[in-house]
Amino acid sequence: MGPGIVRTSDPSLGQEIILRINALGAISETSGHLTRIFLSPEHRAAADLLLSWMQDAGMRAHLDAIGNVCGRYEGERPGLPCLMLGSHYDTVRDAGKWDGPLGLITAIACVGDLHRRGHRLPFAIEVVGFADEEGVRFASTLLGSRAVAGTFDESVLGAKDGEGISMREALSRFGLDPDRIGAAARSRSELHGYVELHIEQGPVLEHENLPVGVVTAISGATRLAASLTGMAGHAGTVPMLLRRDALAGAAECIVAIEEFCRTDQGGLVGTVGYIHAMPGATNVIPGQVSFTMDIRAASDAHRKLAVADIVRRIENIAKRRKLLLQVDVTHDNRTVPCAPWLRRQVADAIAGEGYRVFELPSGAGHDGMAMIDIADVAMVFVRCRGGISHHPDEHTEVADADAGARVLLRLIEHFRPRQAADPA
Ligand code: HGY
Ligand code: MN
Ligand code: MN
Repeated sequence: MGPGIVRTSDPSLGQEIILRINALGAISETSGHLTRIFLSPEHRAAADLLLSWMQDAGMRAHLDAIGNVCGRYEGERPGLPCLMLGSHYDTVRDAGKWDGPLGLITAIACVGDLHRRGHRLPFAIEVVGFADEEGVRFASTLLGSRAVAGTFDESVLGAKDGEGISMREALSRFGLDPDRIGAAARSRSELHGYVELHIEQGPVLEHENLPVGVVTAISGATRLAASLTGMAGHAGTVPMLLRRDALAGAAECIVAIEEFCRTDQGGLVGTVGYIHAMPGATNVIPGQVSFTMDIRAASDAHRKLAVADIVRRIENIAKRRKLLLQVDVTHDNRTVPCAPWLRRQVADAIAGEGYRVFELPSGAGHDGMAMIDIADVAMVFVRCRGGISHHPDEHTEVADADAGARVLLRLIEHFRPRQAADPA
């Protein structure tokens, strides 16, 4: 423990974190299955709860122009640049409780601990709960962090959800002004860096028997939306060889994507996570199908080549089956390296808490992918049981949540802004 560092008196931040994970996890569109999407009534209820926790932790808190919750704990004097901490509080459908909320709730718990001890630092701390990272509602990810980074693409305001409601309309109904999203943007000079704690969402830390790890980089991802158009028709009268069945074509595409990724030697992963067939009746040949693709690889070059190859393959399938194909890229994010100088501080905090320092890449996407445009980024991973995520069985043990909190608190208390001599 370095000079001037006051060790927390709270024996278990983990307990407090778990209680809050459960409280936030109860705010869901459906009872028994956690789903909390952007600009929904549950988004509003979760925001209100988070804002109250931020205030209890001694922060000034507000909802910003895109629906992020933002809290600020001043440093030794008001107005200092901040170390920004955060994660997201939207979920996938039928989600686990930890993906996103763990990082956000842990950050609030750490600030609360400083506040209880009246401990001020030579920099401010800001905690941001990003409103939309998963991109479930409008098929467009990282909306909250892009708004903060000042890179929000206004063209997505026209995107519509499954019920035909545009993002612009949904923002207005939520009480936010779509024309003021620019007001959420922050500048590089206001931030010393951005640090996110998150569950690992994979099995590596469990395999290493470690509660926490240092992230080296966040892997890039490309998401595409495809639509295949054939000819709807009578399921009893049209002979098999005369059909232009869009769903059978999509099925062939899906298997081709799986096969292509499975036989790749470089760890390529590809997922078709959504499919919709129309008109959608037992006795009608599907005339139109839309489906999504999510393609990821450890290197950007590898991912780009793979995406081009996959698109060529599905073009060939469509051509052979006389289906009209349209493919649009809905999301394309480069691999984001974590900053070596900040990584070192995460590693020091882990070692300081008595754990072996272990580095690993993130296969999942995170808000740091957007925050990199205004700040150096680092991440702390916390072990999750069985590596299960995007699933209701997602789970983190209280001891691991506590370890994560102690590491984050130590990182905050020892944090040193980047010095000229630090490598980029
Ligand atoms: O899809 C992802 O990688 C993340 O969980 N948003
Ligand atoms: Mn997720
Ligand atoms: Mn997440």
